[in-house]
Amino acid sequence: MMSSDKARTRAHGTEILRAEGLRKGFPGVQALDGVDLTLRAGEVHVLLGENGAGKSTLIKILSGAYRPDAGRVLVDGQPVEIRGAGDAQRLGIATIYQEFNLVPQLTVAENLSLGRPPRRFGLVDRKRMIEQAEALLDRVGVDVDPRTPVGRLGIARMQMVEIAKALALDARVLIMDEPTAVLTTGEVEKLFAIVRQLRDDGVSIVFITHHLEEIAEIGDRVTVLRDGRSVAEVPAGTPQDELIGVMVGRPIDQQYPRQAAGRGEPLLKVSGLTRTGVFDDVSFEVRAGEVVGVAGLVGAGRTEVARAVFGADSYDAGEVVVRGRRLPKGDVHAAMEAGLGLVPEDRKGQGLVLGADIGENLGLVTMRAATRAGFVDRAGQRGAAAKVAEQLGIRMTGLDQEVRTLSGGNQQKVVIGKWLVADAHVLILDEPTRGIDVGAKVEIYQLVNELTAAGRAVLMISSDLPEILGMSDRILVMARGRLVGELPAAGTTQDDVMALAVTEVEGSRVQ
Ligand SMILES: Nc1ncnc2c1ncn2[C@@H]1O[C@H](COP(=O)(O)OP(=O)(O)OP(=O)(O)O)[C@@H](O)[C@H]1O
Ligand SMILES: [Mg+2]
Repeated sequence: MMSSDKARTRAHGTEILRAEGLRKGFPGVQALDGVDLTLRAGEVHVLLGENGAGKSTLIKILSGAYRPDAGRVLVDGQPVEIRGAGDAQRLGIATIYQEFNLVPQLTVAENLSLGRPPRRFGLVDRKRMIEQAEALLDRVGVDVDPRTPVGRLGIARMQMVEIAKALALDARVLIMDEPTAVLTTGEVEKLFAIVRQLRDDGVSIVFITHHLEEIAEIGDRVTVLRDGRSVAEVPAGTPQDELIGVMVGRPIDQQYPRQAAGRGEPLLKVSGLTRTGVFDDVSFEVRAGEVVGVAGLVGAGRTEVARAVFGADSYDAGEVVVRGRRLPKGDVHAAMEAGLGLVPEDRKGQGLVLGADIGENLGLVTMRAATRAGFVDRAGQRGAAAKVAEQLGIRMTGLDQEVRTLSGGNQQKVVIGKWLVADAHVLILDEPTRGIDVGAKVEIYQLVNELTAAGRAVLMISSDLPEILGMSDRILVMARGRLVGELPAAGTTQDDVMALAVTEVEGSRVQ
C-alpha cells in the first residue's frame, strides 16, 4: 500500500488539483459564486472565511457529496467528474467532515474498516480488523479501545477516530474541515505532527480552521472565501489582522472585549458533587454578574460536571442550588424552571433538532415552558427568535430555513440563541464558540457582557485558552475529575493554566 501511494504522489510543489469558477446554489442562497483553488503536492492549504462563506460547500464538491452548477475540477491537469465518494476515493481525495461521519452504534474498529473490512474465508476477520484499528489509532496517538462503540466516545476522541479513518485511505489530497475545533492543545499538537508528516510525504492537505493562530503554524498558503467567492490567495505568514481584514472586510480591534460587571448574589452553588469514577467532590459558585471559566484537558470531567449540574446526568453525592433552590437530581425540567441553561458541546447530538426550522429551534426552550404553563404565544416567540437571530448575525434565508442546511458556525449560533430567547439566569456554555468565526465570536462575547451586566451568571467551559483568559473573571481548573485550582483571570497566563491542568491528582478515584 505504501509503495503504490508513494508512486502516486508527485514531487513537492507540483499542482495536483485545481478548481475553476465553481458555482453552487441552494434554494434562496448562492453558496458558491465563483471559486478558484489550486492545490500543490506537499502543501498545507488553509481555507479561511466567515461562517457561511462557502468552505464546506467547496470541499463537498471536491469530495463528491455535491455536484457544482458550473465550473470544473482538474486533477493532474485533466478535467474530472466527481460524482460520489467512490470517484473521490479513486482520485485519491479523502475528507474529514465538519459534522462527523461515524456510525455511533458501531465500534471504533468497525467504523475504521467501514465498507472494506478484512476478510478470511469470506467472513469478516475480526481479529485483523481490531489489529488494523489499533495500528491506525496508534498513528494518531489516541488511546481508545477499538471495541468501544463510537457513540460512547467524547467528541474529541470521535474526531481523532475520524482522522484515523481518513488516514486509512492513504489519500494524496486530504481535506480536513475544522479538525481542531473539538481538540485541546495537546491533541492539536499531535494532529499537527501527523499533518506535517503527511505534507513531507507529498500529500496535499486542505485545512479549514477558525483559529487564526494555527494558520502560520501549520499552513503554507491561504485561500480566503467571502460570500461564496475566492477573494485572495496569500502566504500563511500573512499577519492576522490582514487576514481578518480580507476575510471579514473590516478590522476587529478587540478580540476579547470582556467588561466585568459587579459581583452580586451567588446564583449557582455546587457543593461536593461526586459521580463515582467520573468526578469527585466538586464545589464552586457563580455569582450574578460573573463569568467563571472552566479549563482542563479532555477527559478532565468538565462536560460531565456541567451535564450533572444541568440534570442531564445523575450524580452520587453533593448538591446543586440555583437561585436559592436545591435542584432534584437528574431533572432537566426542574433545572430549566429554576433558570438554568446549558449550551452543550455536541450541538448535533444534543443542541438542535436538525429537521426543524431556525425559528422552532430558537423557541425550543420557551416553547416547552409555555406548553407546560398551558398556552403558547407563537407570535411573541417568533418575534423574540427574530431578534436573537439578528443579534447573533445568523446567516439564513429566513427563520423558516431548516437548521440542517445552515453552515456549522451558524448552527452553533442557533444553539446559543435558544438560551438567549429563554432568558436563562445561569447559563452554562460548553465550548460556546467552537466553529464560530472571529467576527461572530466578538458578537457572542458582547452578548455575554450584556448578560452579566444584566445580572446573569455565566459558567464557561472552554478549551480555547485565549478565550478563557480573555473572557472570564475567574478560572477554575479541573484535572482527572477534580477541581485542582482557581485563578483570577487578570495576570494569569496560558502556562499557569496548563501547569494546573496537568496536575496528577493524588488519591483520586477517577481514572
Ligand atoms: N444543503 C443545503 N441547503 C441549503 N443551503 C445550504 C446547504 N448547504 C449549505 N447551504 C448554505 O450555503 C452557505 C455556505 O455554507 P457552508 O456550509 O459552505 O459555509 P462554511 O464556510 O463552511 O461555514 P462555517 O464556517 O460556519 O462552517 C450557507 O449560507 C448555508 O446555509
Ligand atoms: Mg463549514
